[in-house]
This record gives sequence, C-alpha cells and structure tokens, in this order.
Amino acid sequence: MLMKIQINKTTTPIVSPAVVVSVGKWDEANLITLAWVARVVSEPPVISVSIRPSRHSYSLIEKSEEFVVNVPNANQIREMDFCGTRTGKKVDKWKELNLTKQKGSEVEVPLVKEFPINIECKVIKKIKHGSHIIYLGEVLAVHVDEEKLTGKTLDPLKQDQVVYIAGNYYGLVKEPLEKQAFSVRS
Ligand SMILES: Cc1cc2nc3c(=O)[nH]c(=O)nc-3n(C[C@H](O)[C@H](O)[C@H](O)COP(=O)(O)O)c2cc1C
Repeated sequence: MLMKIQINKTTTPIVSPAVVVSVGKWDEANLITLAWVARVVSEPPVISVSIRPSRHSYSLIEKSEEFVVNVPNANQIREMDFCGTRTGKKVDKWKELNLTKQKGSEVEVPLVKEFPINIECKVIKKIKHGSHIIYLGEVLAVHVDEEKLTGKTLDPLKQDQVVYIAGNYYGLVKEPLEKQAFSVRS
C-alpha cells in the first residue's frame, strides 16, 4: 500500500508563479521578484502579493499603495533572478538590466516595457501576518504584447511564463494535457 509521509510544513508543495513587480512612483521606482503571488478574487479581479518588511520595495509600496505585476518570458529569467537577488537600496535595477519604464494607464508606478504582460494594481487591503505583509491589489488594467494574442485573446500556448518550485525556475509545458471538461466526453 502506498503510504503518505508527512514532510516539513514550510515546504508548501504547490507551484507559484515567479514575476517581477514594480513598486514606487516613476523616479524612485524599483523592481522586486516575487513568488508569493496569487489571483484571489474573480470579480473584481484581485491579486495578492506578499512582501517582507526588510525589502527596499516594502517602503515604496507602503508609500504609493500601487504596484504592477510584470510577467517575464522564460528567456528573461536572468533579469528575474537579478531583481530577486539585489536590493534597490544599492543598485538601480532598471539601469543595470537595461529595462525601460513605460507609463501605465491607471497607476503612477511604471510598467517594464520589455516584459510581455503587465498588470496594474491598486492596493485595497493590507494584512500583516508573520514574516510578510500581504497586499491585495485590485487589477485596474492589463497590458499584453500583441504577439501573445491569437485574435483578441491571450493565447495560453504563447504564455511563456516561469514558475517557481523549491528554489528552482521551471518553464511551462508547451502543450495542454487536455481540454477542460474532457472527462465528460470520455
Ligand atoms: C524567485 C524569487 C522569489 C521571491 N519571492 C519573494 C516574495 O514573494 N516576497 C518577498 O518579500 N521576497 C521575495 N524574494 C526576495 C526578493 O526578491 C529579494 O530579497 C530582493 O532582492 C528584494 O529587493 P529590494 O530590496 O530591492 O526590494 C524572491 C526572490 C526570488 C529570487
């Protein structure tokens, strides 16, 4: 019989997206890589991000109460790793990585032009719990590079995102395993 083994609860073995979040208004804007990110409400669309108070980004999000979730392609993991291993207290990550600030339509925090998906959010609630501050951000606008669309919709096969599992970056599989509700037919 297959046994269940209890493992360390801090492992939390579910897949998280890895994204680069912009915080802070134009001149002081910083970039931070986050994996503790999730879609948490459908209507209105709400995303949660969790940030430790020790991060430089913490003081910036506290000040402007806005953020932009930028979703890099799998070939942009160097940029993603850089933003998650250097502090904006010491380096200008935009400059070091040659990334371009682009004006959003709803918030004063800049989008990263080079990353294909950008989600503008306004903080609607903060929860301090343990190691992190959880920010709930209502999605105000979503921008996508034209090439990611098929017709007018975002094509999941072109969503070349990165996921984070236990200290490693993984790409997404290119083909869907099955279509939703396939089990009804078979
Ligand atoms: C893949 C990855 C995921 C991360 N996820 C988080 C996270 O969810 N929350 C957090 O506070 N820090 C997270 N970090 C750490 C910050 O990105 C890192 O400490 C960064 O250097 C902070 O930058 P800042 O001081 O400029 O704000 C992550 C780092 C990596 C590489």
